[in-house]
Formats: sequence, C-alpha cells, structure tokens
Amino acid sequence: MLFRKMPASEVAVSTSGGRVPAHVAIIMDGNGRWAERRHLPRIAGHHAGSETVREIVRACVRKNIGVLTLFAFSSENWRRPEREVSLLLDLLLSSLRREVDELRRNGVRLRFIGDRSIFAATLRESMGEAERLTEPNTGLLLIIALNYGGRWDIAQAMRTIAREVQSGALSASKIDEQTIDDHLSLSGVPEPDLFIRTGGEQRISNFLLWNLAYTELYFTDVLWPDFNEQAFETALASFACRQRRFGRTGDQLEQVQGA
Ligand code: IPE
Ligand code: IPE
Ligand code: MG
Repeated sequence: MLFRKMPASEVAVSTSGGRVPAHVAIIMDGNGRWAERRHLPRIAGHHAGSETVREIVRACVRKNIGVLTLFAFSSENWRRPEREVSLLLDLLLSSLRREVDELRRNGVRLRFIGDRSIFAATLRESMGEAERLTEPNTGLLLIIALNYGGRWDIAQAMRTIAREVQSGALSASKIDEQTIDDHLSLSGVPEPDLFIRTGGEQRISNFLLWNLAYTELYFTDVLWPDFNEQAFETALASFACRQRRFGRTGDQLEQVQGA
C-alpha cells in the first residue's frame, strides 16, 4: 500500500492559515478553446497546456501537497479527430521523455492510471520506465490518468473481484465498499480532497466516479493554458474555507474543533 487508507484528509496548514488538500485531482480542460481564440490549431492549446502542467506540478511540490491526479486523456477522447488524438499522444510521449529527469530531481513519483493496453509499445514502455525511475521518490505522487474512465475503472475492479470469488479466494458475502476501493486504480491513495475543473464546464466527464464521493468540487472558467499558480491559489483558498461535514452537522464539527 502506498498510503494508509483513510477518508479524505488534509495536511498541514497553509501560509494563509487554511487547510491544504492532501490530494488534488484536476480535469485540465479548455486547451482547444484557448487555441481557437488565438486562431491557432487546437494542438497549440495542448502544447500551452503542458506548460501549465509543469507550473502546477512545481507549485504542488513547493506546497507539500501529497498527491496530484491529472486527467490527461479520457476513454472518450478517442472520439476526437484521429489527427488530434495522434498529436496529443505524441505530445504526451515527448513531454514524458523531457520531464522525467526534472521529476526525479524534485522527488516526484509518477504513476499512470487507465487502460494502457491499447497504446503503442513505445508509449507503454516510456510510461513503465518513468514509473520505475521515479518509484524510489518520496515527494509528490503525480498520477496521470491516460485512457482513463471512471466506469472502466469500476468495471475492471468488478472483473477482478468476480475472478477472486470464482476461484474461492473471496466470499461474495464479504464484498464491501473497502473491497471495491482496494481494486480501483487509486487503491491505497487517499481520496481526492479537492477537485478542480478548468474551462468552464461543470461536469465530471467520467473522471474518478467512485473516488470523488466526498471531494470538494471547484469549477473555474479559466482555460487550462491560462491556469497559473495564482489561479491555483484561488482554488486552494476556496477549499480552505469549506466546512467538510461528511454527513455530520455543522454544530457537531464545531464541538470537535472547539474541544
Ligand atoms: C482538454 O482540453 C484536454 C483534453 C481533453 C485532452 P480540450 O481539448 O478538451 O479543450 P476544449 O474543451 O475543446 O477547449
Ligand atoms: C475531459 O475533458 C477529459 C480530459 C481533460 C482529459 P473533455 O473536454 O474531453 O470533456 P467533455 O467531453 O467536454 O465533457
Ligand atoms: Mg474539453
């Protein structure tokens, strides 16, 4: 297990005095519109977006955020024009090759979630190599969701659980929420505390369906290539002001905090 399993939790206290999320999950949306507004090809937006990734990863390292999960390519993104898909995957591969040294130097551990079986061998090998090279690191855990879908994740977990029941290793009556959690891609990682979606859309788009059950949601109109450290601070400040009740009443929480 990478982390002790627990409900969503927050770490330390930020310089502004609020709570800092232990795990931030981001839907990086708006690259295409950013480019279109500049009369540029959509791929230019994806390039600009990859610079934002560097900036936000660095910010997370500086802020001691434990986990950053980025939605880079969804299981539905194959529906895009073939050329955009292939340019996007090329960009992912070249960014990966370029960034892995800096990630290593900064103590970042990289991990991919999603169905990688469909990718070309070169991409799969680079993904595996980047994971291996950064495995010993103990700093930020950077999780990239690639060909990921929340429904795919639940389905693959169910397949494994069904096989375990079939083989007799697991009894069907013992299946509970923890069993499902343990078989999902984010098993062992604390649930996201803060979800950010840039680009103005207010939807989950088949991202971490199970894991976002109690995550604080934050939507901003800022397009991903324009999302900078300051915009990230604004999202963190919004999170810091929220009261996370997990089903309890506000009074109950105040009693605990006051005790
Ligand atoms: C997000 O930006 C990046 C990916 C989905 C890969 P978009 O490409 O979806 O940008 P918009 O939503 O069209 O502006
Ligand atoms: C979600 O963005 C997927 C990623 C950011 C990788 P999309 O732009 O594909 O989402 P929809 O289809 O508009 O909801
Ligand atoms: Mg989009």
